[in-house]
Amino acid sequence: NEVKVFCPATIANLSCGFDVLGLCLDNVGDEMIVRKTAEKGIRITKIEGANLPLETEKNVAGVALLAMLEEVDADFGFEIEIYKHIKAGSGIGSSAASSAGAVFAANELLGNPFTRKELVKFAMQGEKLASGNAHADNVAPALLGGFTLVRSSNPLDIIKIDSPDELFATVIHPQIELKTSDARSVLKQTVSLKSAITQWGNVGGLIAGLYTQDYDLIGRSLHDEIVEPLRSVLIPGFDLIKQSALENGALGSGISGSGPSIFALSRGKATADKIAKGMSEVYDTMNLPYEIHVCKVN
Ligand code: HSE
Repeated sequence: NEVKVFCPATIANLSCGFDVLGLCLDNVGDEMIVRKTAEKGIRITKIEGANLPLETEKNVAGVALLAMLEEVDADFGFEIEIYKHIKAGSGIGSSAASSAGAVFAANELLGNPFTRKELVKFAMQGEKLASGNAHADNVAPALLGGFTLVRSSNPLDIIKIDSPDELFATVIHPQIELKTSDARSVLKQTVSLKSAITQWGNVGGLIAGLYTQDYDLIGRSLHDEIVEPLRSVLIPGFDLIKQSALENGALGSGISGSGPSIFALSRGKATADKIAKGMSEVYDTMNLPYEIHVCKVN
């Protein structure tokens, strides 16, 4: 009558795949306990680690679960306890972790009426509450693991791609909060044909590289000339961190989700650790507080 879940952090966009690509981190995330209650409805009884609303309609986990309960007849209610470790506005999918965790756990308690892919559309409602936009590029990898491609969000068409065996991510989070809605407001609504061609060449290359475990191709494809130039100015030391990651052997580096976290992908843990050391030194020199994670993509 109780399910405890790990709600993983995620990296969305992955440079070339704005709003469509994401990956799941294996050791950074929140915890959530969801219990059956005799009384119907959803109650969020505890949130530790963050100052977030307990009201169901104002909480991303509550809203995601409400969307799910519209499609299934539960003869019991739910009580949710959330233990946040992912900071809001960090760029590694804090709201997605809560939204995905709630629907995943409730689905278990209901006897799994929905597939993981079907849960994505409910979790997206949490994202809509958090950022004003129901993007699926964090909730999809949080629910499915590995890499995910949102080929279409309406109708929803999500493809899960297994991660190459030796792929690691290094993520550094300068301790400032950047709201996704603010990071979206700096974007332009149109792109030039030239940039679009470059971008879809890279998206195709990245997907091909993942399927064939071609690390060099993955690296060649991790570029973004549409979103990164507009958002990177919001992130302290972005160019220096990226440069350091590339010098230390990263396949590629860019903004994690809507920032301010910066990610690098690499082949093998030793390289990922070396990148982490280099990135840390950059922020140490700038006297900027940060958190850093090295994770396997899983
Ligand atoms: N694709 C979204 C964005 C992810 O970049 O705005 C937000 O985490």
